[in-house]
Amino acid sequence: MTFFGRLKKMINPFSSARTAEEEDTGKIEPGERVRGRPKIHVLATGGTIAGRLVSTGPRYRAGVLGFEALLDAVPALRGLADYSGEQVANIASQDVDESLWLKLAHRVNELVDNPDVDGVVITHGTDTLEETACFLDLTVRSPKPVVLVGAIRPAGALGADGPANLLDAVSVATSSDSAGRGVLVAMHGSLFEARDVTKVSSSALPSFTAPNSGPLGQLIDGRIYFGHRTGLSPKRPVFDVSRLDKLPLVGIIYGHAGTSAPLVKALVDAGCRGIVSAGVGSGNLHRDVLTALADASGRGIAVVRASRVPFGLTLRNVEVDDNRFGFIAAGSLNPQKARVLLQLVLTKTQKPEEIQKAFDGY
Ligand code: SIN
Repeated sequence: MTFFGRLKKMINPFSSARTAEEEDTGKIEPGERVRGRPKIHVLATGGTIAGRLVSTGPRYRAGVLGFEALLDAVPALRGLADYSGEQVANIASQDVDESLWLKLAHRVNELVDNPDVDGVVITHGTDTLEETACFLDLTVRSPKPVVLVGAIRPAGALGADGPANLLDAVSVATSSDSAGRGVLVAMHGSLFEARDVTKVSSSALPSFTAPNSGPLGQLIDGRIYFGHRTGLSPKRPVFDVSRLDKLPLVGIIYGHAGTSAPLVKALVDAGCRGIVSAGVGSGNLHRDVLTALADASGRGIAVVRASRVPFGLTLRNVEVDDNRFGFIAAGSLNPQKARVLLQLVLTKTQKPEEIQKAFDGY
């Protein structure tokens, strides 16, 4: 029985009469295709979208509800697609790590290769959603839509945003217009590309934006209104992670007035193969940090300059002589996404010029 059918039974366990909609969805066997109805697979990982209000202690707990409960809570989903799904994790996204990224990449690649799956929706906590989206964008090879979605308010909260976001995400995943656009993020009525989206508010709505490119489109009443149709760069790097069970260690050093050089040493001593500098302004560095990073670069550690400033680009050789120090410039990637890309590139090369090419191509 469908998620929705189970819900109906819960409301009236003695009802055996099937509605027209139940006939429509209840008869579908796995692998069977009903003309016109897309098949969406939901991968649930937790987050506030699966969170619940609690009466004591912290106001709510993330990662409590299972994926069936999420689907059942939005009856309008029923009209859009047939669903399958699985609980990949049920955690708050501050606990997401690279092993979950690899697990998701493996599973999503399997699903998009399956002719019985038309699109994948991934429910995720919003805190690190952009990093998971970026990782999948760089590791999933399919034009089929893969859409990440979360919520800022848990189920049961006044103005809970999860149901509308989920409906939007499924609308995107079922639309042929979404094909071939890389991994997408649907949040608060806007559609974003994984590369550009970032969380900008931990409490207010809308909480995501794409600082340098803006959203790809608006989501209104289940329809996508595209703002721009640039398509993906043909130079975009794609990484095969099917044989990987871990990624190279890459750390981030956060720039501020008086950033301290020993922090660079701590990252080097920890065995980092790459360091991302979340520098100030256009990726500028305190002179002591510059010296320490130049030294690290000289020892073969990849050093990427990004910026803690959300808008604008970190370009090569502006105030820092990247050519001289062998640094890589992150362009418009924020530090946390520069880290994701650097981890993946380091599985192939340690050469700064090659790494810069990957950054320029994404
Ligand atoms: C989380 O990222 O898991 C908690 C916060 C959220 O989902 O909004």
